[in-house]
Amino acid sequence: MKQNLTIIMLIILTPFIIKAQSGKADSFRPGEIWPDDQGIHINAHGGGILYHNGVYYWYGEHKTEGPGGNRANVGVQVYSSTDLYNWKNEGVAMAVVDDENSLIVRGCVIERPKVIYNRKNNNFVLWFHHELKGMGYTAAKTGVAVSNSPTGPFQYLGSINPNPGIWPLNFTEEQKNSTYPDNMKSWTPEWIQAVKDGMFVVRDHKKGQMARDMTLFVDDDGKAYHIHASEENLTLHIAELDEDYTAFSGRYVRILPAGHNEAPAIIKRNGKYVMITSGCTGWDPNPARSAIASHIFGPWQELGNPCIGEGAEITFDSQSTYIIPVAGKPDYYIFMGDRWRPKNAIDGRYIWLPLEFDGDKPILRWYSEWSIP
Ligand code: GAL
Repeated sequence: MKQNLTIIMLIILTPFIIKAQSGKADSFRPGEIWPDDQGIHINAHGGGILYHNGVYYWYGEHKTEGPGGNRANVGVQVYSSTDLYNWKNEGVAMAVVDDENSLIVRGCVIERPKVIYNRKNNNFVLWFHHELKGMGYTAAKTGVAVSNSPTGPFQYLGSINPNPGIWPLNFTEEQKNSTYPDNMKSWTPEWIQAVKDGMFVVRDHKKGQMARDMTLFVDDDGKAYHIHASEENLTLHIAELDEDYTAFSGRYVRILPAGHNEAPAIIKRNGKYVMITSGCTGWDPNPARSAIASHIFGPWQELGNPCIGEGAEITFDSQSTYIIPVAGKPDYYIFMGDRWRPKNAIDGRYIWLPLEFDGDKPILRWYSEWSIP
């Protein structure tokens, strides 16, 4: 009897013992420590995914311990995976430098790096939100780098405020010619109206527009877009890139003016563009938002908070960064969010959840452990 019980226990437990020994993960556990191939918590925050030749590459902010850990002390980190559960550390894709004359000097801010593949040049193009060392978040630039390999090293080309001297496509003559009083008091009805009308676009017309939280999107026709929080984080800009993906083409629109959206993440589904964003509360979580459009340049229709259930009002303690279309699984997407830990940034956690849909409306529910079906 006792012997039988031992045999039964062995039959039940063996698969778990084998799994534990091989160290291979076969599920997502949002919010928990996520060990890489060396057993170290993945260090790729504010990340984005590139799928290329059967391999997923996860690029993100390399954070460090303690105060100052949110600054770029190392650079952009990259991991690779074929199953999305198990990630190999591929090292630093774009390293910061010690030359104080370089804009990517150690101690600047490099956030939300995203990489896309350019078919024309057979190379990889990295863009990232870039703030200059010692200048807080005032520069609001976007930086670009290129590499012949998905794992780098990426060569830094420069950083800009997008589209200097160029008006948005959806800006009227009246908007272009409007003038606004200096130092309007923020958040008054007049100020909100002025923001909607494009006060900050006019202000930044000459020098180029602000670009903070950003993402990239490549459409079916090969056109690539840089989507960023502009106008003091109050209005999103969707800006087309040129054929090399290394510069702005000059075609861009403002969407959801004065909507105060950041952390944009976008997919194309059933011919429509679906976007998830957050509100603007720094490292603290807030309710996510969603929107849909038939053309990437809009009009965009707001669909509200995609989250349902406990924790929905704080996006399950996370902020959007990317949505992964899962290869070989039509209409299957994974929401990627960050649970920031500003006091010890390296301990930031990853909230990956299946992005479900109710018709056209994206839905996010909490699962403490789940797998791709
Ligand atoms: C958040 C933004 C993050 C980071 C942070 C800094 O709003 O989404 O990427 O910039 O602010 O406070």
